[in-house]
Amino acid sequence: MTVKGREASSALRAETRGGRQLFWTRSLGGPSPITGERSRVADGAVWRVLEPSRSKLAAALALGLKAPPLLPGENVLYLGAATGTTASHVADLVGPQGIVYAVEKSPRAFARLLASAGRWPNLAPLLRDVREPESYVGLVPMVGALYMDIPQPDQVEIALRNASLFLRPGGRLYLALKLSSLGRARTPKEHLEAAVRELREHFQLDAPIPLEPFYRRHAFIAGRSRA
Ligand SMILES: C[S@@+](CC[C@H](N)C(=O)[O-])C[C@H]1O[C@@H](n2cnc3c(N)ncnc32)[C@H](O)[C@@H]1O
Repeated sequence: MTVKGREASSALRAETRGGRQLFWTRSLGGPSPITGERSRVADGAVWRVLEPSRSKLAAALALGLKAPPLLPGENVLYLGAATGTTASHVADLVGPQGIVYAVEKSPRAFARLLASAGRWPNLAPLLRDVREPESYVGLVPMVGALYMDIPQPDQVEIALRNASLFLRPGGRLYLALKLSSLGRARTPKEHLEAAVRELREHFQLDAPIPLEPFYRRHAFIAGRSRA
């Protein structure tokens, strides 16, 4: 099975069903603990569905993000993990040799994230504010990839500050940008252009991927930090 014409990683599969594209990750944590998320057994493994309507990562994959986005054995800093829906799939993708450091500040979401993490040996939840990255220096090492999904007005600044502390040179950024959270002074298109301009000073970026029709006024930005 291929994802956008490439050989799928052994932990990621793509499928088209009823004209809709969806993805499956080989689960490290067994059947899904996430409400409403399907899992199935195939080829001696449990696979969990990753649907574009439930995950911006899946939406980006369906809309053109080059796959596989996260590599086996990679350490990832994940900002805005919420209850762990996408973060647990990212943990599946990096596999048992990688670790996903999943930062979330809402105690309520964090409680559910912790419950999932009990089943994913490589998911390390941190109850922290991503605007204070210094508070997790010493807990998070340098990582190969930074994934961020934080709908805040200072999304780009938060990404840059965390990248400067934790992303190794040449490491990759995956940013789900909520354009409507960036204020009313500019149109969503202008916000996206401004974000790309700012990020380009530090990253080589792929073309941004608009996440419509799955997420209104969202774009997914992927890039590689300049060494
Ligand atoms: C859109 S949700 C993330 C969904 C998740 N990435 C997924 O795909 O499963 C955004 C999350 O960011 C968290 N968040 C917002 N501001 C934050 C901050 N300053 N520090 C840490 N987490 C924050 C929110 O509590 C919320 O859970």
